[in-house]
Amino acid sequence: MRILFLAHSFNSLTQRLFVELRSRGHEVSVEFDINDSVTLEAVEAFDPELIVAPFLKRAIPEQVWANYPCFVVHPGIVGDRGPSALDWAILDGETRWGVTVLQANAEMDAGDVWASVEFPMREASKSSLYRGEVTTAAVSAVLKAIERFRDPDVRPTPPDAIAARGRQRPLVTQADRAIDWEQDTTEDVLRKIRSGDGFPGVRSRLAGRDVFLYDARPAPGLSGTPGELVARSGPAVGVATRDGGIWVGHLKDKSFRHPFKLPAVTVLESELGACPEIPCDDERGYREITVSTEDGVAVIDFEFHNGAMSSDQCVALRDAFCDCRDAGARVIVLAGGRDFWSNGMHLNVIEASDSPADESWRNINAIDDLAEAVIKATDCLTVAALQGNTGAGGVFLARAADHVWAHDDVVLNPHYKDMGNLFGSEFWTYLLPRTCGDEKAQAIVAARLPMGAAEAAELGLVDDVIPGGRDTFRERTIARAKSLAGAGDYAAELRDKARRRETDEAARPLAAYRETELERMRTNFYGFDPSYHVARYNFVYKVLRSHTPLTIASHRRVPSPEVRKAS
Ligand code: COA
Repeated sequence: MRILFLAHSFNSLTQRLFVELRSRGHEVSVEFDINDSVTLEAVEAFDPELIVAPFLKRAIPEQVWANYPCFVVHPGIVGDRGPSALDWAILDGETRWGVTVLQANAEMDAGDVWASVEFPMREASKSSLYRGEVTTAAVSAVLKAIERFRDPDVRPTPPDAIAARGRQRPLVTQADRAIDWEQDTTEDVLRKIRSGDGFPGVRSRLAGRDVFLYDARPAPGLSGTPGELVARSGPAVGVATRDGGIWVGHLKDKSFRHPFKLPAVTVLESELGACPEIPCDDERGYREITVSTEDGVAVIDFEFHNGAMSSDQCVALRDAFCDCRDAGARVIVLAGGRDFWSNGMHLNVIEASDSPADESWRNINAIDDLAEAVIKATDCLTVAALQGNTGAGGVFLARAADHVWAHDDVVLNPHYKDMGNLFGSEFWTYLLPRTCGDEKAQAIVAARLPMGAAEAAELGLVDDVIPGGRDTFRERTIARAKSLAGAGDYAAELRDKARRRETDEAARPLAAYRETELERMRTNFYGFDPSYHVARYNFVYKVLRSHTPLTIASHRRVPSPEVRKAS
């Protein structure tokens, strides 16, 4: 079918549906919801058989829904209506939630139901649930809805005809989420913060500053006057609650000189004077990197918020990797985080630095040092286990490992060009041709499109797709890694690896690849063309796009003269 997506932005859920529908042979084009006339223009140009709204913040214009079948993907159970579906589900402590595909009509979220899929809730932030359970349910619900839509004997069901517990809810306000530090328990505080994380965050006063809170975790062992800063650990500040304490990893202060989401210790730097520091490798600290070793397999989990890796985080991860290698691990699994494996350089930290060009340079070198350590580790086998989505430099960093394993819900964005035409590094000019071949390597970086695990495997970016979704992927990966470590041909595989590295090094040293890539990056950071700095600013400040990129808006691409002539 010819399917047009109307979306506020090309967010993770929209990307995943785009990947899934295209892989099933549908022709999918995307238009951002900029204003009604632009939407009408897109609909006219594409003349879709079906419109899907995976992520919309406004109603679809009547001229569109009255003339075209339109599916609205609502992140709520049947009967639920309103703009804060998932926020309320978290605040209300729902144990099951769902995604419903409705036919658009004059009333928001009130159309007939084409499909609905439920899932058990997890104690996690709104954005983690959205990227995980909601996205998986949305894929099933949309596929089911399309199947029903194509059956001439099936009509959608009016919501009133379904016995449902969902109801109309208003927008969640800051008052609904407000933390009462004197009264709220740790659990209450965590639930409120999670309900607004990643957007808009919960506003509260910390150390006399008006800040928005994100990335909260329980902090066993902390105590003090509720609402006061009592410790720091890595990027996080410890705040006492009525019955304990929490770590807050990230904050935003709209009146700070850098008014965007940043590590909490950066935002509150001047207020942290007397706070005791708990090292982040301490059990009681805010741990970003955790290493566990069993049966010769070292698993390195790195839960970097939003998958962004600052210079310091790259150094810490490299140290952890080298420690495992030096301790004689037979297999090292780089397990990333549940939501993201890695999204490359930390653009917010770069934006907030005194010299973004210098910090970009430091950051890319720190990632390269890490990638180089992984590539050069010839006395152990390495696995990148993609539990979460991965983008930009993160994808190529993963490819530095001997084996890249992914589950079937993962989305990869293996390209840099959307970030102001960045050339990219992480040895991609060595790794991609080696595993995917020259032609595919060029096609991958030029396409600027998301891809699912299956397509990534076809292209050679992923070696194995382990079916079964996200929940059990880590355990299944570890079991496989143990088999790898104990396999009869382990020594032979290691010998092959070392031999291959030697041959590659003789053909062209790694240092040469790095130098060439970094020369291009130097031009991106320090050169005359400011595109990267502009793109990074727009990304960090969340400047909305004024048009849909042509890479995804196929209906806006002008056909080449040959195609025009032929048609
Ligand atoms: N640095 C800092 N923050 C980042 C980041 C990065 N490299 N990549 C993602 N984030 C943040 C986003 O700002 C967003 O923050 P939020 O908590 O305020 O919502 C969150 O992570 C999720 O990102 P989002 O863009 O909403 O996710 P997505 O699934 O729609 O898109 C990507 C995924 C990877 C395509 C997109 O995040 C991206 O382009 N990131 C930048 C990648 C990059 O260019 N890295 C530098 C070159 S190596």
